[in-house]
Amino acid sequence: MTARGYAFHVIFDAMRRWPDVEAPGLVAVDAADRLILDESAEMRASAQPGDIVVINDAYGALTLGAAQAGASGMGTHIDALTGERALDANASRVSLTGSFRTLPLDAELVRGARVVLLRLPRSLDALRDIAGLIAAHADPRVVVVAGGRLKHMSVSMNDVLRESFEQLDISHARQKSRVLIARAPRDGRDPSPAAARVEGLEVRAFGGAFAGARLDIGTRLLLDNLPDAPAGGTPDDPLIDLACGTGIVGAWIATRYPGAHVYACDQSAVAVASAHATMLANGISDRVAVVRDDVLGTRPSASASFIALNPPFHSAAAVTDLIAPRMFADVARVLRPGGQLWCVWNSMLRYRPLLETAIGPTSQVARNAKFTVTVSTRR
Ligand SMILES: C[S@@+](CC[C@H](N)C(=O)[O-])C[C@H]1O[C@@H](n2cnc3c(N)ncnc32)[C@H](O)[C@@H]1O
Repeated sequence: MTARGYAFHVIFDAMRRWPDVEAPGLVAVDAADRLILDESAEMRASAQPGDIVVINDAYGALTLGAAQAGASGMGTHIDALTGERALDANASRVSLTGSFRTLPLDAELVRGARVVLLRLPRSLDALRDIAGLIAAHADPRVVVVAGGRLKHMSVSMNDVLRESFEQLDISHARQKSRVLIARAPRDGRDPSPAAARVEGLEVRAFGGAFAGARLDIGTRLLLDNLPDAPAGGTPDDPLIDLACGTGIVGAWIATRYPGAHVYACDQSAVAVASAHATMLANGISDRVAVVRDDVLGTRPSASASFIALNPPFHSAAAVTDLIAPRMFADVARVLRPGGQLWCVWNSMLRYRPLLETAIGPTSQVARNAKFTVTVSTRR
């Protein structure tokens, strides 16, 4: 049987979240994906090659569901690198690799699009950036089929979509999911980052970057307690800002330790774009490399003396305690013996035993009502 002969459930059954964390209850395809595909079926049926664009697919269900129904020449964008890699792995599994191209979230992605399948981002600012971009560059007849789980949706999303589209229709809820259908684009604009001056730093944030152009209170505790003179900071052994978000930690480190080389990385495309803009705005781009990476995948083993980390606890929309251990394992690989991880975490998460096991001796540096900062030394 050819791939197109498969029913959705056959390709969906084959799909996985890997290389993102996997566990019972963490799914690669959900009811919102199915609803977006069902609500867009008629529009997709008359689409020509290149008419369909997918934005924020989680692990590829929208892209591959549309491909399985015959779509070709699709552009698709996934913010998280693990999601993008999962899409590629899933496409191979179901023999649908040639039907889409992965593209950055920019004008080229949406230019001339007639149908956009959008998995609603949790952040209203991210939705505003995406809606504005579509309105600016898609075909004037574009239809945006934007869906999500009810628990992650709010009526404010309708208002944000109405800023960029004249017409908004709202589907009935099905299996705790809903779809918003937007037509008649207007007032399109390319995303530009929010800007603020925070603790003497210029911070830039595209919609969806963690904490926006602000200093998170956990991050503040980390910054207040970083060491006076960390080891490393050379081109071969840069100070590492892991999971950098807007790059606020990396920019702070580069400013506090003048002349130090810094490496800031995040798997989120929006975070990396924000961090680039932050480094430019502070005039430190020559010393700070900003890289999109899954944890520290491109860093050599046993190479780093210093890593700072405020770890995430979301994987796509799911809250899970599996992400930090995955990060700590890669930190352990990349730290040289004696190298240090400076980490802030919500005290309720009780990461200390995990840090001790994965990395080495761990001591508390600071604690307030909500957060703990620890330093772990690679054994
Ligand atoms: C709590 S935020 C911290 C951001 C920034 N360091 C700060 O303190 O403001 C966690 C960051 O981890 C990133 N992240 C999640 N999974 C990741 C992964 N597998 N590899 C790299 N970064 C990841 C998220 O995109 C997010 O920007």
